Amino acid sequence: MTQNFDQLFDRSGTYSSKWSKFDKDVLPFWVADMDFAAPDFVLDAIRQRLDHPILGYTEEPDSLVASFQGWLAHHYNWQVPAEWVVWIPGVVPMLNLAARCVAPDGGILIPTPVYHPFLSLARHAGIEEVCVPMHADTNWRMDFDAMAAALTPRTKMMMICNPQNPTGRCYAAEELAQLATFVAEHDLYLVSDEIHCNIVLDENCRHQPVAAAHPEIAARTISLYAATKVYNIPGISCAAAVIPDDSLRRQFMHERAGLITGIGPVGYTASEAAFNDRSDWIPQLLSYLRGNLAEIQSCVGERLSPLQATYLAWIDVADLRLADTEAYFAQQGIGISPGAQFGAPDYIRLNFGCPRALLRSGLDRLSSAIDQAKTG
Ligand SMILES: Cc1ncc(COP(=O)(O)O)c(C=O)c1O
Repeated sequence: MTQNFDQLFDRSGTYSSKWSKFDKDVLPFWVADMDFAAPDFVLDAIRQRLDHPILGYTEEPDSLVASFQGWLAHHYNWQVPAEWVVWIPGVVPMLNLAARCVAPDGGILIPTPVYHPFLSLARHAGIEEVCVPMHADTNWRMDFDAMAAALTPRTKMMMICNPQNPTGRCYAAEELAQLATFVAEHDLYLVSDEIHCNIVLDENCRHQPVAAAHPEIAARTISLYAATKVYNIPGISCAAAVIPDDSLRRQFMHERAGLITGIGPVGYTASEAAFNDRSDWIPQLLSYLRGNLAEIQSCVGERLSPLQATYLAWIDVADLRLADTEAYFAQQGIGISPGAQFGAPDYIRLNFGCPRALLRSGLDRLSSAIDQAKTG
């Protein structure tokens, strides 16, 4: 299989969120949705499902559960019993369900900057939130001393994403060991959003599910996965939680409370085909993304935080002293995510999961926008 990642698609008429947000003359590099075709093995599975003309309410297929178990075993050598797995139409709903597990008296601890839906979980659940910054000068390591100092009697759960959106960190084995000790010492649940786990670009890094690397804390963990990022099917709404502890899992499921629908047949089918993938789709994608990353590096140089994982570049624009980065760059024809959204206003996040020609047009605009801001 050779995927043509250079192919440009006109997404107009598909109501793409990515391409609808800004005016037509703005190139969008914001939401984590790539401008690549999904792989044929996923599209073919969906087409085959559509050969049956009834798209009714659908139970979780046993074959999907088996494909997910096989995927965890293949990539991470993690053997997960089927009963640990809960399917929900999206990782964000699962983050919210998890936060509700410590309501009404509890609170959550979140290292920041972080994927912005983390920052409304406490408000949605009516619980306490404690955010503790990670810093560029430690390459966005979690600050365990500051986190220990920030804990309150209400803090019952820590929520992280790894690989980290937006900084692009892939936490190292020794950080995960520290994390495991920390959550055990402070008697916390740990929610680990690992949706970007397959997108590790730094060849010296390896993703490890924290619950697999540290079975001693597995009973405290909720680990979240989906096939949607690496196979670029984010609109199909299908995700899985791995929750080893029976009572925590029951509570998580109870929190759905009639609010969360089942997953549709297309979501199940696409996810199963993706989890069954053993082709070279992922290596090809990663190789293309590394090429894109090199273009960004040569455009913005030291502004770029060293990126280990994800296709989201985290770029320092503090010196430009822009009041509203999103509006400024949109005026210059480039749609980025403002760092303020993630809790770090000195940065912008740029999604480079797109054909290189499109990225180059965006980077031309980005560099002239930066030059213009510098010269005032
Ligand atoms: C870290 C992280 N978690 C969750 C999501 C969204 O997951 P879902 O679409 O399954 O709700 C994203 C999408 O950008 C993400 O980056």
